Amino acid sequence: MPGNTSTPDWWRGAAIYQVYLRSFADGNGDGTGDLAGLRSRLPYLADLGVNAIWLNPWYPSPMADGGYDVADYRSIEPVFGTLAEAEKLIEEAHDLGIRTIVDVVPNHASDQHAWFQEALAAGPGSEARERFWFRPGVGDGPPNGWQSIFGGPAWTQVPDGEWYLHLFAPEQPDFNWNNPVVREEFLEVLRFWFDRGVDGVRIDSAAVLVKDLDSVEESYTDHDGVHEIYREWRRVSDSYGGRILIGEVWLPDQERFANYLRPDELHTAFNFDFLSSAWEPAALRASIDLTLATHVPIGAPATWVLSNHDVARPVTRYGRAVTSWDNAERRDGMPSDLELGRRRARAAALLAMALPGSVYVYQGEELGLNEVEDIPEELIDDPMWERSGHTVRGRDGCRVPLPWSGTEPPFGYSTGEPWLPQPAGWRDLTVEAQEADLGSMLCLYRSALRLRRELLGDGTLTWLPYGDEVIAFRRDSGLVCLVNLGAEPAALPESGSVLLASGPLDGDLLPSDTAVWIMEAR
Ligand code: GLC
Repeated sequence: MPGNTSTPDWWRGAAIYQVYLRSFADGNGDGTGDLAGLRSRLPYLADLGVNAIWLNPWYPSPMADGGYDVADYRSIEPVFGTLAEAEKLIEEAHDLGIRTIVDVVPNHASDQHAWFQEALAAGPGSEARERFWFRPGVGDGPPNGWQSIFGGPAWTQVPDGEWYLHLFAPEQPDFNWNNPVVREEFLEVLRFWFDRGVDGVRIDSAAVLVKDLDSVEESYTDHDGVHEIYREWRRVSDSYGGRILIGEVWLPDQERFANYLRPDELHTAFNFDFLSSAWEPAALRASIDLTLATHVPIGAPATWVLSNHDVARPVTRYGRAVTSWDNAERRDGMPSDLELGRRRARAAALLAMALPGSVYVYQGEELGLNEVEDIPEELIDDPMWERSGHTVRGRDGCRVPLPWSGTEPPFGYSTGEPWLPQPAGWRDLTVEAQEADLGSMLCLYRSALRLRRELLGDGTLTWLPYGDEVIAFRRDSGLVCLVNLGAEPAALPESGSVLLASGPLDGDLLPSDTAVWIMEAR
């Protein structure tokens, strides 16, 4: 059973596995992943050795944005299952020592949410409209020139002439967080899920809730007023005895980022700076230093994230000529040397798992899946595709259903046709194939997560001098992590025993793009 789940600060050093439910495992053969599928695969997650799962939104949703368009925050999407099944999942996961974190989406709802339907019907000037951002237009156009994050205007007009704000798709109207009714509603939503045993929430688009509509500039990111909201949320989570709050906070300014992690606000936030870093020693070292410098003074643990459901898979990213990540560019279809990318992704995993704090593993990362870049256009589901006028393919390539077993699609994922097609080449990457191969990515993740539980997690690190090309540090347990990002092999330390390596070592040399964990001789 995975360790440290009984301690109140389990989250500080946790390994958290992100379940994109739609694509994890399908229990009823309709091609879409569901709770039955996930429950049947919980032993796999226990074997992997994770402390918690975070599930992307599982609420009733028209799926205009993969479930981030929530129609009802207190129920389960019928395609995924029922509330009773969700409660069973939480309980069964607990029995295996795994905590459950759910996604809460406070910035916007679905246009099918009862409040939005009520607002449409109630008309201009109504209280129902005050829960969202409805405004008259200027001339024939929208109230201001703000653009949606998915492309196109951030305003859509309704038949009575008013416009409503949506930072994302038109099917995702933004809530008006100046309205106390909205604030109270979300405190109730938190209580609803904490009452059902969830151990934490991941807060979607956490930095954009508060807006200044009078500003000509787009003015919604990181307003000071957002912190008051999270102080209220923290009071609720604390009243449940340490349920945790995790923010999706994309901010370039680390000081502003740290504000979200003050002791009376969120517990942790995703480290997108590390995820976005190029596979280059100076960039990675700088990102790690910056991360620790941001977190240590406020006493919050860092998080280490290599992938999620919004970004290209690391295997593909690290095999490209440009290895950094930029949401604005995405680099769809840029050629990638997948063999090189996979070698680097293995090394990156050992790096991320050796660093102090908690670590996230996005489903399929442990299998070394590549980004799927040839999904037929007519099957593309991501709203970015339509909103960009068919110029940005979007995020489906990292959301393709997992390959579990067998030699051809659907690879044990479903008995039906997966909602997105799986590449035939994934036959070598199934869980079944990798379990039988001690050198596989899956076996590497299992070993690393096991060792990490015993020897790593939260704490501090000490940098070791190994030259510019090798990232090297020691953890308090005596574990030394070396990552060679140079083109030439690097010398391994003369003493100490090798616990784990991301690839074959060359005698006493550490090859290029390889990481190793060594226990110091004592
Ligand atoms: C977050 C989610 C992303 C979603 C967006 C709008 O960035 O991670 O998947 O599209 O919010 O809810």
